[in-house]
Amino acid sequence: MNYRHAYHAGNFADVFKHALLAMCLEHMKGKDKPFFVLDTHAGIGLYDLASDEAVKTGEWHHGIGRLMEATDVPAELTPYLDVVRGLNPEGGLRYYPGSPWVAKALTRAGDRVALCELHPADAEALAATVRRDRRVKVHAQDGYAAIKSMLPPPERRGMVLIDPPYERRDEFAALEQAVVDGIKRFAGGTFALWYPIKDALEIANFHARLEDLGVPKTLSIDLMVRRSRRGLPRLDGCGYVFINPPYGMLAGLERVMPFLSGLLALDDGAGWTQRWLVPEG
Ligand SMILES: C[S@@+](CC[C@H](N)C(=O)[O-])C[C@H]1O[C@@H](n2cnc3c(N)ncnc32)[C@H](O)[C@@H]1O
Repeated sequence: MNYRHAYHAGNFADVFKHALLAMCLEHMKGKDKPFFVLDTHAGIGLYDLASDEAVKTGEWHHGIGRLMEATDVPAELTPYLDVVRGLNPEGGLRYYPGSPWVAKALTRAGDRVALCELHPADAEALAATVRRDRRVKVHAQDGYAAIKSMLPPPERRGMVLIDPPYERRDEFAALEQAVVDGIKRFAGGTFALWYPIKDALEIANFHARLEDLGVPKTLSIDLMVRRSRRGLPRLDGCGYVFINPPYGMLAGLERVMPFLSGLLALDDGAGWTQRWLVPEG
C-alpha cells in the first residue's frame, strides 16, 4: 500500500471524479427519503495543496486550478465548486476535498456516510477530519469486504463509490467481483466505479466483461485529456462506470462533459465518450 493520494489531489482525475460524485449526490437528494453512502477507498478526506506532495507534482494546476479560474461553468458543477469554496473561505485555493468531504458536505441530516480506508495512518487522519459529524463513520478496513458486510443498507437507498489505487494487478477483477457482490445484495443501489485510463485495451476488456455481467443500467463515461501513445503507459484519461445512475443526472452530463473535456484538455486528443454497456431492461 504505497499509494499516496496527496500527490494527485485536485488533478484532472479528481475534478472529474468529484464533480460527477457531487452531481450524483445532488440528484439523490431529489427524494426526501434518507440514503446511505459507502466510500470503499476513502483516503484522508482533505488535502493541502501547499503540502510538499502537492507542490512536487503540481498536478492540481491542470485540474481544480483551471476550474476555479473558469467562466461559463455549467450550473450542475455549482454544488461541487461550493464545497471547494467552502474549504477556502478567504478566497484562493489552498484546501481541496477528497470524496469523503464531498459526501459529508452534500448529504443531509438524515443521510449516513460510511468511509473505509485500509491504511492505518490514513484512516486515523480521516477520522480526525470528519470527527465532528456523527452521521459519518470511518472504518479502518478493506472496502471490498464492506460491500458484503454493509449492503444492503437499512435505508434501502444509497450509492457506493469504489475508487481504489490500482496498485494491485488484479484490481479490475476485484472491481468486477465487487459489482457481483454489491448487486446481489443491493440491486437498486447506485454504484460508481472510477478507473484510470492508461491502456485503452485494458479498459475495453473491462467494459466487455461488465457487458457480459449483464447488470441493467450500466453506463460508462470516459474522459481523455490527451492522445494515448502506444507503449507509453501514462494517465491520459479516466472514467467511471455507473450502475443505476440517478434519473436526471444524464441530461446534466451532456452539458458537463463537453465543458470538462475542453477545460481539462492537455492536447488535441482530449474528448469524452458515454455508452450504455448494458441498457435498462
Ligand atoms: C485513490 S485513493 C482514494 C481517494 C478518495 N476516494 C478521494 O476521492 O478523495 C485510494 C485509497 O484507498 C486506500 N486503500 C487501498 N486498498 C484499500 C482497501 N482494500 N480498502 C480500503 N482502502 C484501501 C489507499 O490507502 C488510498 O488511500
